[in-house]
Amino acid sequence: GENITIKSLAEKMAINAAEVIKKLMELGTMATINQEIDSDTATIVANELGYEVNVKVEEDKEALLMQDHEDTPADLEPRPCVVTIMGHVDHGKTSLLDAIRHTNVTASEAGGITQHIGAYQVEHNGKKITFVDTPGHAAFTAMRARGAKVTDIAILVVAADDGVMPQTVEAINHARAAEVPIIVAINKIDKPEADPAKVKRELTEHNLVAEEWGGDTIFVEVSAKNRENLTELLEMILLVAEIGEYKANPNRPARGTVIEAELDKGRGPVATVLVQNGTLRVGNFIIAGVAYGKVRAMMDHAGRRVKKAGPSMPVEVLGFSEVPPAGELFFAVEDEKLGKQIIDERHNKKRELELKATAPRVSLDDLFSQ
Ligand code: GTP
Ligand code: MG
Repeated sequence: GENITIKSLAEKMAINAAEVIKKLMELGTMATINQEIDSDTATIVANELGYEVNVKVEEDKEALLMQDHEDTPADLEPRPCVVTIMGHVDHGKTSLLDAIRHTNVTASEAGGITQHIGAYQVEHNGKKITFVDTPGHAAFTAMRARGAKVTDIAILVVAADDGVMPQTVEAINHARAAEVPIIVAINKIDKPEADPAKVKRELTEHNLVAEEWGGDTIFVEVSAKNRENLTELLEMILLVAEIGEYKANPNRPARGTVIEAELDKGRGPVATVLVQNGTLRVGNFIIAGVAYGKVRAMMDHAGRRVKKAGPSMPVEVLGFSEVPPAGELFFAVEDEKLGKQIIDERHNKKRELELKATAPRVSLDDLFSQ
C-alpha cells in the first residue's frame, strides 16, 4: 500500500508522534516513531484523532517525463487540425466521411483497404485535415473521463429530413464540454423531404445560430450521397482551423490517444492511435495504461507502412503487449528501462486498486466491538 511513517503522519497533523503511537496502541498496534504504517491504518488513526485523510495515489514517472519535455513556444510548429464527426444515429456521419475520403483518394490507395481504421487524414488545398470517425458517444465520454482532448473541431451532422434528435443534443453537449468549435453539416439535402430551414430553426434553440440569422455558427448544407458541397465543408474546416492556430512540437517523444484497438488473430494487438505531440517512430517503446511494447510497425490510414508519425497523424500501431483501451493516453519513452519501471508501477497500482475494491472494509465499530 501507500505507506507513511508515524513521524510524518504526526507532522501532517501537527501533533506529537507520541499521540499517534498511543492511539495505535489503543487500536492494538505497537509501533515506533520511524515505523511505516499502511494507508488504511493511517486513515483509521487520523480519523480517530479527528482528521480526514485523502489517500493520494503517487504520481508515477510519467509526470516527470512530461516535465522533461515542457515545450517552449519556439518548439511549436503548425499541425493539422483534428476533426470529429458527431451526430444522431443514421444522420450520415460515416457516409459523409466516406464521401470526403473518396474526394481525396490517391492512386496508391486503390489497392483495396480492408481493415477498418477509426481515423483518416485527407489533404485539401495542400493542407492536411485529420478526421476521427465518431468513436460513439460512450467512447467519447471515456476519452473525456481520461482527460484526453482529441478533437479541435466538431462537425455536427444533422439529417435535413429528420432534424434535431436526442443524440444531436448529446453531441452538442459533448462538443461544448470539450470547448471546441462546432460546424454544422446539414446532410441529406438531396432528399425530397429535406427541410434545412427547419434544422436551423431547431438548432437556434441550442444556441447554434446561422450567420445569415445573425449568429456565428457555420452551417454547410451537404449531401454525402450526391457528394454535394463537400469542398465547401472542407474549406470551412480549414477556415476554423486557421483561427485555431493548432501547434505541436514534432521534436520530442510522442504522446497521444488510443482511438481504438483490437486483438487481430494474425497481428496481435492492433491499436489506432492519434499522435498529438511529438513524433512516434518504429522501434519506440510505448506505454498506454498497462499495455506497452516496442513499435514493430506502423500503418497510415490507407494501410501504407510508415516509419514515423508526427503531430495529428493517426496510425495503426503493432507491438503492444496487450490491447489498450480506447481513450487511453499513450506515450513513448526514450529509455526502455524507465518504461519498464513505469509499467511495473502501474501494474502494482492496478493490483492495489483491485485489492481496495474487493477487500472487506473494517469499520471502526468492528474494531471496537467484541
Ligand atoms: P451511425 O453510425 O449508425 O450512427 O449512422 P451514420 O450517422 O454513420 O449514418 P450512415 O452514414 O451509416 O448513413 C445512414 C443512412 O443514411 C444510410 O442508409 C445512408 O445511405 C443514408 N445517407 C447518408 N447520407 C445521405 C445523403 O446525403 N443522402 C441520402 N439520401 N441518404 C444518405
Ligand atoms: Mg456510422
